[in-house]
Amino acid sequence: MPTTARGLAIEARGLRKSYRSKAGEQLVLDGVDLVVPAGTVTALLGPNGAGKTTTVGVLSTLLAPDAGTVRVAGYDVVREPDAVRAVIGVTGQITAVDDLLTGAENLRLMADLNHLGRAAGRRRTADLLERFGLTDAAAKPVSTYSGGMKRKLDLAMTLVGSPSVVFLDEPTTGLDPRSRRTLWAEVRALVAEGTTILLTTQYLEEADQLADSVAVLHGGRVVAEGTPAELKQVHDAGTLDDVFLALTEPPADDPAEDSADATGVGARSGTTAGPTDSPTDSPTDRENAR
Ligand SMILES: Nc1ncnc2c1ncn2[C@@H]1O[C@H](COP(=O)(O)OP(=O)(O)OP(=O)(O)O)[C@@H](O)[C@H]1O
Ligand SMILES: [Mg+2]
Repeated sequence: MPTTARGLAIEARGLRKSYRSKAGEQLVLDGVDLVVPAGTVTALLGPNGAGKTTTVGVLSTLLAPDAGTVRVAGYDVVREPDAVRAVIGVTGQITAVDDLLTGAENLRLMADLNHLGRAAGRRRTADLLERFGLTDAAAKPVSTYSGGMKRKLDLAMTLVGSPSVVFLDEPTTGLDPRSRRTLWAEVRALVAEGTTILLTTQYLEEADQLADSVAVLHGGRVVAEGTPAELKQVHDAGTLDDVFLALTEPPADDPAEDSADATGVGARSGTTAGPTDSPTDSPTDRENAR
């Protein structure tokens, strides 16, 4: 996969993004710096409304940044959006599956969109249905699927084009514990194949289990980043939940000021994102997770 000179699959520097509406302008990303080395998992954490989905939108070319440089797989998201789109997969916070089609039809549609060709498309569809335990449901309309089955189909659809960088926006929300572990196992398998993953989650144990590096977004900036172990150590916390709570305290006075001026609460921890001392070697390995 193409990367930047330093082997970064994702590199955002000084990323700024505001939303404009009749009510005025809302600054959401106020100079976000984020790097993700190729072949690693980074978890982007932050309170509701912190700008995680907005960040994923910019990184995946769905939203234009106002300022900053953003490169994905070595390509500039503003100047080379088509090149970025060709190598990424995105699973949005809201599932993108078509309820009226069957699971297999949804996957074949993605295969067509990825120009896989008929035979290759059918093979890829069958592989992914198998991988996500959806073979028995393949011929049923998605409207009959449970929420968790839809989530799995959504992720399978993301993978049809064999993307080298995958964005997962709250991929396990609503999944039961076993399905969540199945999905973790798939994430680990993808990373073992060299895929780079940026995921958002509100399940901090998930970040602890899966992520080589964690970045916490608050007040429009990344206020801390590091391995889960580093962050726990720096904040003298037993869990990532405690780290999160320490870093994302709402401002005492006006919550509306949040995006403009809240970065002082959790000053940057001083740790750096990067290849890590504690990769996917947690006790819940792929085999256990199945
Ligand atoms: N299309 C939009 N137009 C206007 N404002 C938006 C738009 N999308 C998001 N926002 C606002 O931008 C801020 C960040 O939203 P975003 O969805 O990026 O947060 P998030 O961190 O993903 O939150 P959550 O954890 O709830 O998913 C919020 O205040 C939201 O209301
Ligand atoms: Mg979101």
